[in-house]
Amino acid sequence: MKDNPSIGVIGLGYVGLVTAVTFAKLGFRVLGNDIDSNKIDLLKQKKSPIYEPGLEELLKEVMDSNLFEPTEDFQRTVRESDILFICVGTPTNPDGSPNLVYIEEVARGIAENLNGYKLIVEKSTVPVGTARWIERTIKLYAGKDADFDVASNPEFLREGNALHDTFNPDRIVIGVESERAKNLLLKLYEKIDAPKLVVDINTAEIIKHASNAFLAMKISFINMVADLCERTGADVKLVADGMGYDRRIGRAFLNAGIGYGGSCFPKDVRAFHYIGTKNGADFSLLEKVEQINNSRIDRFMDHVKEALWYLRNKKIAVWGLSFKPNTDDIREAPSIKVVRRLMEEGADIHAYDPKAMDNFRKLFPDINYVDNKYDALKDAHALLLITEWDEFMPGNVDFEKVKELMRTPIIVDGRNIYDCEFLEPLGFEYYPMGRKKCKRE
Ligand code: UGA
Repeated sequence: MKDNPSIGVIGLGYVGLVTAVTFAKLGFRVLGNDIDSNKIDLLKQKKSPIYEPGLEELLKEVMDSNLFEPTEDFQRTVRESDILFICVGTPTNPDGSPNLVYIEEVARGIAENLNGYKLIVEKSTVPVGTARWIERTIKLYAGKDADFDVASNPEFLREGNALHDTFNPDRIVIGVESERAKNLLLKLYEKIDAPKLVVDINTAEIIKHASNAFLAMKISFINMVADLCERTGADVKLVADGMGYDRRIGRAFLNAGIGYGGSCFPKDVRAFHYIGTKNGADFSLLEKVEQINNSRIDRFMDHVKEALWYLRNKKIAVWGLSFKPNTDDIREAPSIKVVRRLMEEGADIHAYDPKAMDNFRKLFPDINYVDNKYDALKDAHALLLITEWDEFMPGNVDFEKVKELMRTPIIVDGRNIYDCEFLEPLGFEYYPMGRKKCKRE
């Protein structure tokens, strides 16, 4: 093996693409493989198939310096790489279990093309025990003397902050069972200054699921408290602040609102519940986490109905469609459920999002999309704030203009970014989550 190991990344979704370009930026030669020829074509033109701040610029940089090459050629990716990162999707089955069929296919493909030692690293989020399956699959198809190691190196990046998180992680988890694998992975991360935890593979797999499930639990916990605050006139934001000063708790992920979405938390909570229960542990806590999260949409819609009574033929402005700011990703976004409910109620929906409208249009071709946030508001009966993009933050909105444009100045805030103290004097009715409303009786 050369001094600088070469890397192959299989699956160029969110995690795979970011992994590929960041390792290239660190000076490794990276081949990125995906079965989607449209995606590869786009990447060959140095265009990113997803919106992520800074990603397209970095993609261009590492392609111009010949450190990253996208390819449809799976065989070549395996044969020309010393280290292979498996980053393919792990969708959810109807029973909540993750579907690992793509991982199995990749493992089989690697076995069939093995040409010397390979380190095979799972980066996709997988249930504990998956690395064992990968190992068994490779031995089954490449023979029991095949020269390889399997490792787990879970990813902790957040969408919208992916590059920052990859270059400045809180920790790097390296799940290995051989010195060779450990040294190779430590070499890859040599230039990254972060605590590096070297653990066994099962532990690494559980660290990833447990971290995401814990963060989701924090969100559902504060959303549960939000319901009590709402009924007792308390303010959940201040409760979260008060809790957050305790260093054992921390303020992060205690923002109450319309609930968590995205491609990770909903799927990982279900998968972790599934694998825990399957192994005979009591993971019912996670059922509640999911249940509370689902009920956020009901709470939000209760506010909309409390403000407007009926929605039929009413013009409703929606600000924000992505599951969180700084991404065009709408997977499991709360906006999808809200828009469905609004449609069932007969509302006339006018939506705006800085980046996610193209993706949303594929799901909902028949609602109205506008090119800037104010265009959604003309004669609107209510404004629903669903994603806290920077341009919707209080300092970036002209509320006099908002009020002038709207038919009835009502704001239902799914992210608690505004305040009664500010909006009431301007003549708005305001419905946050778990905090004081300002409603004219
Ligand atoms: C999450 C984790 O934060 C990452 O560490 C992990 O690597 C990633 O999943 C993954 O497994 O790939 P991500 O889904 O990109 O990252 O986004 P988050 O910032 O964690 O937000 C998830 C959801 O929770 C969003 O819908 C967000 O709006 C919501 N959220 C977050 C809240 O409702 N309240 C909060 O206080 C924080």
